[in-house]
Amino acid sequence: MNSGMVTSAYIVAAILFILSLSGLSKQETARRGNLFGMVGMGIAIVATILGRDVTSYGLLIIMMAIGGSIGAYLATRVEMTQMPELVAILHSFVGLAAVLVGFASYLDPDLQLEGSAHTIHNVEVYLGILIGALTFTGSVIAWGKLNGKIGSAALMLPNRHLLNLGIGVICLILLFIFLGAGKGAGTFILVVMTLLAFAFGVHMVMSIGGADMPVVISMLNSYSGWAAAATGFMLSNDLLIIVGALVGSSGAILSYIMCRAMNRKFLSVIAGGFGNTSTGGGGAADGEQGEAVPTSAEELAMQLSDASEVVIVPGYGMAVAHAQHPVSELTKQLRDKGVNVRFAIHPVAGRMPGHMNVLLAEANVPYDIVLEMDEINEELSDVDVVIVIGANDIVNPSALDNPDSPIAGMPVLEVWNANSVIVSKRGMATGYAGVENPLFFKDNTRMLFGDAKDSVNEILKHL
Ligand code: TAP
Repeated sequence: MNSGMVTSAYIVAAILFILSLSGLSKQETARRGNLFGMVGMGIAIVATILGRDVTSYGLLIIMMAIGGSIGAYLATRVEMTQMPELVAILHSFVGLAAVLVGFASYLDPDLQLEGSAHTIHNVEVYLGILIGALTFTGSVIAWGKLNGKIGSAALMLPNRHLLNLGIGVICLILLFIFLGAGKGAGTFILVVMTLLAFAFGVHMVMSIGGADMPVVISMLNSYSGWAAAATGFMLSNDLLIIVGALVGSSGAILSYIMCRAMNRKFLSVIAGGFGNTSTGGGGAADGEQGEAVPTSAEELAMQLSDASEVVIVPGYGMAVAHAQHPVSELTKQLRDKGVNVRFAIHPVAGRMPGHMNVLLAEANVPYDIVLEMDEINEELSDVDVVIVIGANDIVNPSALDNPDSPIAGMPVLEVWNANSVIVSKRGMATGYAGVENPLFFKDNTRMLFGDAKDSVNEILKHL
């Protein structure tokens, strides 16, 4: 393929990626968006392989076959609940790739650059490795926090801000020394900086508390994009620069949206220490909560038959229980009886952005009855029954009325304003943020204990 054809293919792929992002922004067009992205990536890979930079195919095909098979195997086996972890670990691969490409590019004996071109290339290498290294370890820690292998509490080292600042300043000084150094000393500086960036990535994510993890996920998504863009500069690959910039900026926008959803300042989250669970989260509410009153599926079925306005609030537990299909069936049956059923989706429900929307779409719940928190919060006082299915932190009133709570200030779905609230969960365990939930003890709340899927199936039996 000559360079003109490769460039044309890259332009087509870039357009498909932009169409993909725009498609993914709405549920109705998300499948199409995915398809555009897949076709764009297919074109990008074929054009890169057939381009003039690739001179030998043997090793490339073997590596692609190994990587592709592992990816396909993992993707078909991964549970929907493990998807956030998968995304986090995939971000770490992008970071590691940027580090490896950076070293390969720096040590490449065939690359002979002079003057400013040489300096610019070295800056690209340095920044690519720096961003890649902190994305790598940060994502590995995020993966550990998401699958529970690492506790969700924020690590509060003494002088942690000073530590972060110190690493940043040392990396900056090393950059200037690196630019004036020869190959041998330059390689040594790169190794030292990589180790510092690894440590920074670990510390950055370790010091962010459980409740603020959504911001971290989207932030690492953004970093992985910038790492890819830096790799694109190193390899002089325009498409990689475009794709990296698209991922980097869309991740940054998502981080902003997540911060707004949680009423946090982006810089405070990055500086760490928020969302810490060290207080046990209960604060003043502990000890004066009274008793949680259980109910049965039969009672709830009767209540639902008499209701005219019902709102369902899904959370992480719905994903764990795979309850979305029975929930969809329950919705259908109630709507057939003339009940107005709507879904209320909190922006950080579940473990990844859009988690609940994906599950409900999979179960064929009509899009027009799935509402965002802001769209429905004010109307909850007119609702007869709210059914909270496997959600906890996102319906916790202490976020609004307990300033000592680790989730204080986070907007939540104010379900307690409804006439009656039913919470379906297995026991009295806390949610991801480790915070006690006073909702369970309110006068108008009843607990439907048990696995969410079994409970909803039981309700269906009695309806
Ligand atoms: P959580 O607060 O995590 O609560 C989930 C609840 O589901 C648990 O209290 C658990 O109680 C219940 N549960 C678990 N398995 C169940 C099952 N099989 N059947 C019924 N219930 C079950 O979930 P949420 O309300 O969706 O809030 C999300 C939390 O995750 C927030 O703190 C958010 O900050 C954090 N987070 C979000 C993201 C993104 S991007 N969305 C990423 C990382 C972290 P039992 O054990 O008693 O059943």
